[in-house]
Amino acid sequence: MKKVLVTGGAGYIGCHTVVELLNHDFIPIIIDNFSNTDERILQGLEEILGFMPIVYRTDCTDYKAMHEVFSLEKPDAVIHFAAFKAVGESTAHPLKYYHNNIDSLLVVLRLMDEFNVNELVFSSSCTVYGQPAMLPVNENCPPQQATSPYGYSKQVSEQIIIDTCAARPQLKCTLLRYFNPIGAHPSALIGELPYGIPNNLVPYITQTAAGIREKLTIHGNDYSTNDGTCIRDYIHVCDLAAAHVKALEWLSGQSNVCEAFNLGQGKGNSVKEVVDTFVRVNNVAVNIEIGPRRSGDVEQVYADVSKVKNALHWQTERSLDEALKDAWKWQRHLTQA
Ligand code: WQD
Repeated sequence: MKKVLVTGGAGYIGCHTVVELLNHDFIPIIIDNFSNTDERILQGLEEILGFMPIVYRTDCTDYKAMHEVFSLEKPDAVIHFAAFKAVGESTAHPLKYYHNNIDSLLVVLRLMDEFNVNELVFSSSCTVYGQPAMLPVNENCPPQQATSPYGYSKQVSEQIIIDTCAARPQLKCTLLRYFNPIGAHPSALIGELPYGIPNNLVPYITQTAAGIREKLTIHGNDYSTNDGTCIRDYIHVCDLAAAHVKALEWLSGQSNVCEAFNLGQGKGNSVKEVVDTFVRVNNVAVNIEIGPRRSGDVEQVYADVSKVKNALHWQTERSLDEALKDAWKWQRHLTQA
């Protein structure tokens, strides 16, 4: 059984991936500094798994502390989630994002070399595409100028990994470009824990439906789309987690590779369609208003997923309806707690 270090493993996508790893006979080791998550996720994991996975409360930018973890655990592979990911917040605090997102990767790559760990699954993002020149966007689409420090930190991180792979023949990496992760584990025991006012659409919808927020502001309805609102590719977080296991399994059969893969449904939905679907499938009201466009937003982005289907034999299995039902179930669990 392969031991996998999961940095940011108590985070939103990280904890769902921990469940998936254990379902496929990997041994996950969680590393998290808990700056963007909390104990409720560990409690939920313990309830789902029936035991508590190994957890190191460690900051990935701390070389000394991370050296200790590598030395103790001697991992076979790393899934590197640990990063901040709020597009708007990154514009307000660029140095926080460049330090955390890039320095953590540099520490991980350095220690992988020192401990001869040669398989890396990296958490990248569709934000590397900016506003793509073509849709659906495929992995060969030339990256546009990032529209935020967050997006740029992912572009730089990908280049760091590409260059390191070119210099280190035994290293094998996948760059997983997430589109818009939403939803929660069907048990409603783990899910997204937005701190303060949510940046992302779906947690804002669920908090509005729960009465925590007065209303949802739709950021602009004057885009050149069918209903004027932005289009994104929303993917169930459980489907996203499954793709990480597929990526690890694929890497074990490769040598010296560095491949990017789009992880999305392969189709776009508008903000208004997401809101309307949420209302329909959960039979709840959501108070909305139309506001101005949000800076940094691209008009539409959705994935061409043919490469990941062919190489990793992975595709989404859950619908937008299911993701929005699971998101609401998780919100009700949080509100009752
Ligand atoms: C989606 C749409 C908003 C909130 C996210 C992640 C980023 C990356 C890509 C992984 C936009 C609109 C939102 C609200 C709204 N994922 N919206 N009212 O910006 O696509 O980026 O996916 O790396 O990390 O942040 O997602 O959910 O913020 O916005 O109208 O209150 O919803 O304008 O059109 P985004 P989002």
